[in-house]
Amino acid sequence: MIKKLSFFLIASLLFSQILAAESSTDNRAALNLFKKHCASCHGEDRLGLIGPPLIPQSFKRLKPAGAEQVIKDGRAATQMPSFKATLSDPQIKTLVDYIYTKPVKKPVWGMTEIINSHTITNPPESLGNTPIFKADMQNLFLVVETGDHHVTLLDGDKFEPIYRFKSHNALHGGPKYSKDGRYVYFASRDGWITKFDIYNLKVIADIRVGINTRNLAVSDDGKYIIAGNTLPHTAVILDARNLSPVKLIPVVNDHGKSSRVSAVYTAAPRKSFILALKDFPEVWEIPYNNKTSDNKPPSFKIRRIELNNYLDDFFFDQSYEHIIGAARPEGEQHPQGGQVISLTSGKKIADIDLPGMPHLSSGISWKYKDTRVIATPNIKEGLVSIIDTRNWKIIKKIKTKGPGFFIRSHEKSPYAWVDVFFGPNKDLVHIIDKQTLEIVKTLKPAPGKTSAHVEFTKDGRYALLSIWENDGAIIVYDAQTLKEVKRLPMKKPSGKYNVYNKTHLEEGTSH
Ligand code: HEC
Repeated sequence: MIKKLSFFLIASLLFSQILAAESSTDNRAALNLFKKHCASCHGEDRLGLIGPPLIPQSFKRLKPAGAEQVIKDGRAATQMPSFKATLSDPQIKTLVDYIYTKPVKKPVWGMTEIINSHTITNPPESLGNTPIFKADMQNLFLVVETGDHHVTLLDGDKFEPIYRFKSHNALHGGPKYSKDGRYVYFASRDGWITKFDIYNLKVIADIRVGINTRNLAVSDDGKYIIAGNTLPHTAVILDARNLSPVKLIPVVNDHGKSSRVSAVYTAAPRKSFILALKDFPEVWEIPYNNKTSDNKPPSFKIRRIELNNYLDDFFFDQSYEHIIGAARPEGEQHPQGGQVISLTSGKKIADIDLPGMPHLSSGISWKYKDTRVIATPNIKEGLVSIIDTRNWKIIKKIKTKGPGFFIRSHEKSPYAWVDVFFGPNKDLVHIIDKQTLEIVKTLKPAPGKTSAHVEFTKDGRYALLSIWENDGAIIVYDAQTLKEVKRLPMKKPSGKYNVYNKTHLEEGTSH
């Protein structure tokens, strides 16, 4: 009897050790797989780099089966590749289990961490108020070169670089200018906000507002910056002068649910910030100019607009009265299509039958006949949808050579430029006549290489296009004759931003 018992004990002891050993090899196997295939984009600590954090608190809408699908197939129109050909099904399952395990150390980034990260390199009052170089300060471009994490300041008349400086890694969401164009603010995916003085070509301050950050917006009075995070679930308001933190806003709803921020915007005519949220169907509006009697900062009281669907990606009309939004399916299915929300009433006023996956945040608008239209590329289908803003009906679907990412124009230009970002025709760019809504020309600026993201000069006479490769270029076109004028070598120039067009909310570009 005793023998039997001890045998049983020893056997079960052994068995549990085997189990333990197995689960730790499992873990090590998962860790190794993760390091080899995923860490370069999602970070060794899983807290996100150019890819989002992969920890359970990030997966509000994504179920394990959905994650498995994403890893197998990749995600259309993003940098998330497909691993169908490189990893076996059991390996993918191992990775899914791994990313749904809580990290050993809970990621924390609160006010203390934010304050401790703050450095003021050059106090703004220590710098002169006249530019130290000669150029039309309104016709400058900043070119973000993600190939080697640099930013080039480009003269928009001569098309010559003025200055090139190192940025934080993986800038995201485009730099934002102060209204006068003197300062520019950058956000990096790993949470750093930088203020740069273009007149003096100097960094003013840096602060880390989160572990993983989406983008930032500048209030139109130039006083405040807001940054939206995916990790932690917060938004942070900073004093624009030197980036001192003013307020940390937890993004939590009435039911105690928290959400990642998918983007922040400035609605200049409304004097408010708008927050798009990823994990519950709400849009938040935060007024920034409700004056207090004693000159204290505004209260930044949140107005929550509840929706009947998620809004991941959206476009404001020129008045900032309406949001035109769409939900991106994330593993699990959400009803697709677009909706129009009135910011004044907080109500949905129309549905738009938008097929595929419209890229609304890259949409533009122009006057067409006796109305105004919005044009949006589509990241799943080769088409550009043209929406009539009088009745929110699609008046035309322009067929293209493949899914596109950016569409751009200028009030003074008769043409809209749309790329064919995805698929075999990624080296093409279509030129659409804004009045006939037909493609009038298709360019192939660098055969075999991705060409994307056009931005116009201040006067709309020239269009600058990116060759989106490490040995890439900016190509300058005459926007009227569509002839090439100049080619400047650049390291993966992911985006370019014209001071005047961005600060004057030019209708042909995103803001
Ligand atoms: C080249 C960069 C890159 C690599 C390598 C990469 N990813 Fe991603 N991944 C991304 C990006 C970017 C996204 C965000 C896509 C989007 O915008 O929806 C993403 C999204 C995801 C998502 C969806 C997250 C969510 O919250 O919706 C999962 C899951 C994921 N990746 C898992 C993995 C795993 C596991 C690996 C390794 C086998 C891996 N990724 C490798 C770039 C990458």
